[in-house]
Amino acid sequence: MKESILTINDIRISYYDSGKGETTIIFIHGFPFDKSSWDFQLEALKDSFRVIAYDIRGFGHSSSGEREFSIDLFADDLISIMDALKINNAVICGLSMGGYIALNAVSRFPQRFRKLILSDTQCSDDSPEAKEKRYKTIELLNNGGLKQWVTAFEKSLFIESTFEKKENDVKNVRSVMMTNPVFTLVSSLKALAERRETCSILSKITIPTLILCGESDSITPPAKSQQLNKDIKSSVLKIIPDAGHLSNIEQPGIFNKYLSEFVQEGI
Ligand code: MLT
Repeated sequence: MKESILTINDIRISYYDSGKGETTIIFIHGFPFDKSSWDFQLEALKDSFRVIAYDIRGFGHSSSGEREFSIDLFADDLISIMDALKINNAVICGLSMGGYIALNAVSRFPQRFRKLILSDTQCSDDSPEAKEKRYKTIELLNNGGLKQWVTAFEKSLFIESTFEKKENDVKNVRSVMMTNPVFTLVSSLKALAERRETCSILSKITIPTLILCGESDSITPPAKSQQLNKDIKSSVLKIIPDAGHLSNIEQPGIFNKYLSEFVQEGI
């Protein structure tokens, strides 16, 4: 996939832009990954749609700029990217932190989105325990504990059999986690810890919404997706078998099938 670069506000954004069609799907990766998370989706869907995946500021090949990271800022960046690429209206797909950004953007700029895909995500903010865990991770990362953290964290991303059956995919994800700058990880953990809940805005979402979740997702479990499904009236929920948190990488075939049917036909 050919990498492109654009400049928005104070930063340089690296992105993939492929395929053609009336419908543009923009993919937003989770924490602490990059645009390569969506390789299986871009490859499979580019014959039917224009598909874009970008590195969130600070991740992958995007620069971090000077501003304090927040989910609001990440959502503002998304709108600036759409403006720069002259995309008035898009289908937006976010996984986990990407879903937090998508929910934030859809609630603040509803006219810019025609369909929403929320994968392995939630509307809740962090509990006091979750916040404390993030600040402990920050301490560990600031003290040179990147490898220790990645080794522990990756266990929560996949179901057990994936480590054997999809060794290469696990290796790629691990290498992305090891490559993102510690500054980005620390700044994003703060942004995640301090983010607002979006559960209270779900009833205002009226665009067709597809909710996907790995059946064994231990980070944002299916109950979180059921809550999204209950409160977004225009939504449908699909649980993905034999998948954990990174359901788009563990089961790309079924993930892509649900996604393309939804974008083509609706719910
Ligand atoms: C993600 O995958 O984006 C993160 O696990 C989300 C989170 O930590 O809340």
